Amino acid sequence: MSKILLKHAEIVTMNGKEEIITGDIFIENDRIKAIGVNLNPPEVDKVIDARGKTVIPGFVQTHIHLCQTVFRGRADDLELLDWLKKRIWPLEAAHDEESIYYSALLGIGELIQSGTTSIVDMETVHHTDYAFQAIASSGIRALSGKVMMDKGKEVPKALQEKTNESIQESVDLLEKWHDFDNGRIKYAFSPRFVVSCTEPLLKEVATLSGDFGVNVHTHASENRGEIAIVEDETGMRNIEYLDHLGLANNRLILAHCVWLNDNEKQIIRKKGVHVSHCPGSNLKLASGIAEIPSLLADNISVSLGADGAPCNNNLDMFNEMRLAALIQKPIHGPTAMNARTIFKMATIGGANAIGLAHEIGSIEVGKKADLVILDLNHFHTFPSYDVDPISRIVYSATRADVETSIINGNIVMENRIMKTVDKKT
Ligand code: GUN
Ligand code: FE
Repeated sequence: MSKILLKHAEIVTMNGKEEIITGDIFIENDRIKAIGVNLNPPEVDKVIDARGKTVIPGFVQTHIHLCQTVFRGRADDLELLDWLKKRIWPLEAAHDEESIYYSALLGIGELIQSGTTSIVDMETVHHTDYAFQAIASSGIRALSGKVMMDKGKEVPKALQEKTNESIQESVDLLEKWHDFDNGRIKYAFSPRFVVSCTEPLLKEVATLSGDFGVNVHTHASENRGEIAIVEDETGMRNIEYLDHLGLANNRLILAHCVWLNDNEKQIIRKKGVHVSHCPGSNLKLASGIAEIPSLLADNISVSLGADGAPCNNNLDMFNEMRLAALIQKPIHGPTAMNARTIFKMATIGGANAIGLAHEIGSIEVGKKADLVILDLNHFHTFPSYDVDPISRIVYSATRADVETSIINGNIVMENRIMKTVDKKT
């Protein structure tokens, strides 16, 4: 039994009314037990004085590649398909158990240090069990899965899979890790993208996702060259093809979606598919600027992800939030993607994408305790009390402002010192 009391904080709740209140949060085991002024529960194990600090729901990133963290710096002036062929696939092929484990651990450390508490992660073809071990011991909340690639002539031999083996290995990992540590870890089928997956594989993934009730995480409509290959091979646009195979439903998380036609948008909206917007990666790989304001206007579920470290260096959600806001301003004006819209995508929007909006994404009684304490007093400037704290966070906060992070009621970082939760299989 663990009881933590956080005192005198400015709390950005992201509840239905998006209230910002000053008060205390009482955490019992993995959940928020009470929020209020001058709480005084008995037998508290730990009191954190958060006076002058800001507490936010931990960020939920819906598209990450932990296995690419150690490839940082390998993003030069290349577009997606050349970059995959020349840089990413040979490096993924060279990974071994140890390098996967430490790449994941390094990535998770950077994520937690920059306020992220939940991720949707895609690994590589082999050794994914070691990434899950890093996820387990770090305490981060994660959906993860081995990447599936049973097609593609330019894929290195070491990454080429047989369809049935790819499926069997995925199911084995699912059976080992799905719902591990009281549901903190979940499995997500991860067919890389249509370009690298056969139709039988994608159809089987659609069936298994329904049978097991787990998410499917893939890339789609990121780059015009990728879309041309899909159209050439299937006669359909990406999202139309995924729908045709039975994959378009509310368990599907699509990274990027930079280039969608009206029919694809309709499918995404009607079927409740989730879009993971990756602004930093879309800029770095010259993929384009996703039309997020129009997706939001259509009530499409959009959340945020940093993609892999080669695209953006350090998986920092503060960078992604700021980029998501800034890139739309010259096109749509100052308020089309305002700070509250962005912050929602980064918190409760991400929780919704992974089917956990009832558990995380906001600070409310009964929810899991996934929250982050920020010290926003580092600014060498006048106090800005007349500014919405959410605007301050989106436009001015940095990873250096993240002080303490709590996931599932465990303190995983305190005063910038990382801790492990020591959950091993
Ligand atoms: N599409 C297929 N694989 C990848 C990947 O590793 N990164 C990105 N950004 N897009 C992809
Ligand atoms: Fe990606």
